[in-house]
Amino acid sequence: MRERSRAIGVWLLALAALMVGQVLLGGITRLTGSGLSITEWRPVTGAVPPLTAEAWEDAFAAYRRIPQFERVNPHFTLADFKRIYFWEWLHRLWGRLLALCFLAPLPVLWRRGLLRRRLPGLAALLALGASQGLLGWFMVASGLTERAYVSHMRLALHLGAAVILLGTTLWLALGELAPAPSGRRARAPRVLLALLGIQLVYGAFMAGLHAAPAAPSWPTINGRWLPRETFASVEALTDDPLTVHVVHRYLAYLLCGLVVAEWLVRRPGTPPPVRHAPLIAVAVQVALGAVTVLAASAPARFLPLALAHQLGAIALFLALLVLAYFADAAPASWRQNPGKLLATQSRSSSRSGHCSSTASVAAAIARR
Ligand code: HEM
Repeated sequence: MRERSRAIGVWLLALAALMVGQVLLGGITRLTGSGLSITEWRPVTGAVPPLTAEAWEDAFAAYRRIPQFERVNPHFTLADFKRIYFWEWLHRLWGRLLALCFLAPLPVLWRRGLLRRRLPGLAALLALGASQGLLGWFMVASGLTERAYVSHMRLALHLGAAVILLGTTLWLALGELAPAPSGRRARAPRVLLALLGIQLVYGAFMAGLHAAPAAPSWPTINGRWLPRETFASVEALTDDPLTVHVVHRYLAYLLCGLVVAEWLVRRPGTPPPVRHAPLIAVAVQVALGAVTVLAASAPARFLPLALAHQLGAIALFLALLVLAYFADAAPASWRQNPGKLLATQSRSSSRSGHCSSTASVAAAIARR
């Protein structure tokens, strides 16, 4: 039986919130074309931006040597460069802040004896977080020598790893704050999460290949439901902007249909917000996708919409993850009134600072 800690749950939730902020900053960095402005990787000293005119000149000179400057931004002045530098610097700084917020409380948790049983989970977070930094640099490096933009495959890897890190953090947080899993594995939310995973990869391909302008129309795709020039080869599935665009759209409709089906058959015992959230998130996300393609040729409108669409994807992921957790968690008696039980449990855990999950669930059921 594992003791749970509300404080650790809240700490993990705060880390997850910071990660959502990091995904948002990553989106801004990409959409403002800032991702290649810092051409080196200095995990610690890079926190300090150039501070003198000479240091700025050096950083700008390094940017002028990469293909993006030559092919996309030859008109850039130092002021333009400083603007794009800011977003990439902030994105990296946020990553450092996340690392600090993760590492700083560990000695205290260790002293209080709260760390040992959680070592596997926290070690997994550490490994995922560290590899996310490496993957970020792996992605940036793909745009420094031959290409004018980063590789869309590596962008997908970077986004995918961020989503896995976020999901693991939230899952561990739920393990501290919500009723413990009953041991069964609900299949439907996992199938939806797997399909969403593929859709997120295709979303990253859309972004990395700049595929929105390939078909800036909705509901049809350039006036057709299936443009003739798509699916010309196996490589087209990952490299051709129009084929990627078609796959992304139809996967969205499939996912939407399956989320609706899951919602219709889900047992009423699931807490209403948990049950309804994926449905609302997927509907909003499909609508955002549609308005984003329609704005593909208007940069001023495209940026905020594409950003909202990226956040929408994260919201849908989180909603499905929470659904999966609660679908696993619900023992038969708890399904009757989960809201009341959660409230009882959180009161008892805040009184004692921690709680034993199974014992408190049983006690709460007995009290009712
Ligand atoms: C379940 C539904 C959907 C999900 C989960 C989803 C997810 C995503 C994700 C994760 C991205 C990448 C964002 C980034 O890395 O910045 C993306 C990009 C994109 N998606 Fe979707 N999407 C969905 C539906 C749609 C639909 C229905 C359309 C169009 C009708 C669409 C159009 C686009 C476009 C145009 C982009 C590229 C935006 C850019 O260049 O930044 N999406 N999507």
